[in-house]
Amino acid sequence: MLKVSILGAGAVGATTAEYIAMKNFVSEVVLLDIIDGLAEGKAMDLSQTASMNRFETKIIGTTGDYSKTAGSQVVVLTSGVPRKPGMSREDLVGVNAEIVKNVIPSILQYSPNAIIIVVVNPMDTMTYLVQKISGLPRNRVIGMGGELDSARFKYQLSEALGCPATEIDGMVIAAHTDTGMVPLLSKATYKGVPVCEFLSEDKIDYVVEETKIGGATLTKLLGISSWYAPGAATAVLVHSILCDHEKMMPCSVMLEGEYGQHDVCIGVPVIIGKNGLERIVEIKLTDAEKDKFNASVAAVKEVNAALKNFL
Ligand code: APR
Repeated sequence: MLKVSILGAGAVGATTAEYIAMKNFVSEVVLLDIIDGLAEGKAMDLSQTASMNRFETKIIGTTGDYSKTAGSQVVVLTSGVPRKPGMSREDLVGVNAEIVKNVIPSILQYSPNAIIIVVVNPMDTMTYLVQKISGLPRNRVIGMGGELDSARFKYQLSEALGCPATEIDGMVIAAHTDTGMVPLLSKATYKGVPVCEFLSEDKIDYVVEETKIGGATLTKLLGISSWYAPGAATAVLVHSILCDHEKMMPCSVMLEGEYGQHDVCIGVPVIIGKNGLERIVEIKLTDAEKDKFNASVAAVKEVNAALKNFL
């Protein structure tokens, strides 16, 4: 039986559950929250869409009962505080580290073989925290951010080119932060043709800037952090694991010498399959991209230093 548990039945957690259910590839999705009745309510509401949206996935909600999560192959962490307008993801480090640290033992007690997907921000730092305190092999701790940032990059490129986003290919690597992410312009294509052949430098600069502040723009508009694209990106990641798709996507994983870096979780292109992280793909970066990637690593390591009381 394929089973996914999602900690946090808030905006991102519930949307992830919805997209997973709509894809109809798992038997059970469990939503767990600490707010009395929230997960049960969202699970029931979502379950009532099954006859219309044509899925058989069972959705179960629970207030803090980890026994309901037992035997999950994948556990998604969205249990954390989202940012508000004017905040950076890094501002959330202390409060979210406390939450993340506390949930790990209960997850592993009931699902000792689970692959853990970290969505909580600051995501690269929270992934590092989970990696360190769980003691799991690195293939089983994966941070979701690069797939989301890449989707936002493709959206911005599609707007600039006036074409559907499905015609665009591209990746964003490095940190899942406003200043740290690195959209790989040199590799982005429109139907296999480099996007730089179609766009002026001004337009390219605009696309890159809007991609980097994509989350912040939405937080400003909505008054709170967004959920549709984060939920969709998380569902794609879960799907690739449980159906062993071996898709390539940028994810935050522990580097052990790849891209010249050690002891940091940060977004790099990886293959995602039944073992979680199957392998890291080392692509050739331009010198400018390399410099930006290394600066992004340094910034993440600085934020990670704030974890010293949690490790
Ligand atoms: N265990 C389970 N659930 C928890 C816990 C906990 N220890 N602590 C908090 N939660 C729950 C909250 O009660 C809330 O319902 O996590 C949920 C978070 O949902 P939202 O506040 O709606 O936040 P959301 O927008 O979903 O973002 C969650 O993901 O993208 C990141 O930055 C975002 O860190 C944030 C996280």
